[in-house]
Amino acid sequence: MSDDRLIVALDVPNALEGLSLTEKLGDSVGFYKIGLGMLTGGGLALANELKQEHGKRIFLDMKLFDISATVEAAVRGLAQFDIDFLTVHGDPHVIRAAKEGAAGSKMKILGVTILTSLDRSDLDDCLIQDGEVQTLVVERAGRALEAGADGVIASPHEAALIRALPESAGRLIVTPGVRPAGAEHGDQKRVMTPAEAIANGADHIVVGRPIWQDPSPANAAKAVIAELP
Ligand code: C5P
Repeated sequence: MSDDRLIVALDVPNALEGLSLTEKLGDSVGFYKIGLGMLTGGGLALANELKQEHGKRIFLDMKLFDISATVEAAVRGLAQFDIDFLTVHGDPHVIRAAKEGAAGSKMKILGVTILTSLDRSDLDDCLIQDGEVQTLVVERAGRALEAGADGVIASPHEAALIRALPESAGRLIVTPGVRPAGAEHGDQKRVMTPAEAIANGADHIVVGRPIWQDPSPANAAKAVIAELP
């Protein structure tokens, strides 16, 4: 049976392929992440169908960032879709606006701290203040949580540091960058296993390619769940 600590990233180009993947996964997965890559390929319609007809939980990974009024309006619109988790950038004004937009719904707002694809030289290009990336990530997570985020997205390597912040009590930490023991790492550089991520304080892990690229996605999902403590 499924374990909602595992969220499977449906990183396929369109809703039809997404639906066929979820059919292969069947009861082994109860929680799906739909990202920007599928938005123009029917991502919202798929989110609706998975929720209404199959009872799945939905994480919409939109990483919204804009002026407060626009974020609030966008989140209010998305809140009508009965989505469980929505990502926005972790800047305090964005978090506050998203929480306003989500008011009255059960949708949880998760803050993205610093994209893990960025290194210090990218941050220099963006005029982001000096300091180690990991330190900035933990500080941004703290500010997002202070601003009212229901949780944050973090690498498993930062999860323990964020879990140690008093602001993270009762909030969610969701970690991508997870690889089952012995799996290919792909372009993920700093990975941990499902068990390590949970031990570091993650509430949910997001796993994509090791599941959807497997010849038997359901078996791969079950193997990840079997690794959870
Ligand atoms: O295929 P893989 O397991 O690497 O997929 C991880 C998912 O999590 C992808 O949808 C990816 O975009 C997302 N993600 C990530 N690292 C982040 C934020 C999101 O891998 N820092």
